[in-house]
Amino acid sequence: MKKSQFYVIGNWKSNKSIDDVVVWCQDFATLFTREPVMTETLKVVLCVPFIHISTIKSLIALNRLPLRLGVQTVSSFAQGAYTGEVSAAMLKDLVEYTLIGHSERRNYFKETDQDLGEKVKQTKNAGIEPVYCIPNETAFIPDQVNFVGYEPVWAIGTGKAESPENANKVAAAIKARANRTLRVIYGGSVTADNVAAYATMEHIDGVLPGGASLKPDTFHRLIVNASHI
Ligand code: PGA
Repeated sequence: MKKSQFYVIGNWKSNKSIDDVVVWCQDFATLFTREPVMTETLKVVLCVPFIHISTIKSLIALNRLPLRLGVQTVSSFAQGAYTGEVSAAMLKDLVEYTLIGHSERRNYFKETDQDLGEKVKQTKNAGIEPVYCIPNETAFIPDQVNFVGYEPVWAIGTGKAESPENANKVAAAIKARANRTLRVIYGGSVTADNVAAYATMEHIDGVLPGGASLKPDTFHRLIVNASHI
């Protein structure tokens, strides 16, 4: 089935020094020049640590890379006396997307549905698109969400991806229970080798690779393979 839009949303998690980011962009630019892959239907987003936003933004412009920027979380507070927090209002001119409720945030940082709902509100107010991550089809999804990241916890970072057919069934169930149009992005051990199978599934609108986004060659290959849809 031909899709009008397919998303590849890389998640660097807590990785990379500034030097690593510069090398990643240079290497990605070389690969991209050799094999330019963007089709009209493919949107590639990189969710990077806050500290790398400005570096990568200038490298994207310099090398004309077809990448959009996102972050991995935002504060649940608007702004003000919240030491250490980065608010959506601070990010509004810098990124287009943010992950919210990734299982690592829920697990290690004890983020609750209520916290995540606040984050969605702040993000929407700032004009940033939240990609709201959930572990299964029954998890709560706030009303304002248009992008859902379906990520079974057992598939994250394990090399054991959910089968495209099962992921498609869950994506269909998530869509069926919503009273609006949702895009569902699958995450959990997505690689260059399996991405095409997800891309051909009717209800899967994108993928969310973590490990496979860390190296420019694996990420580039994944994008190339996703573009054959
Ligand atoms: P993974 O991570 O691709 O390394 O499994 C996915 C994620 O956590 O978003």
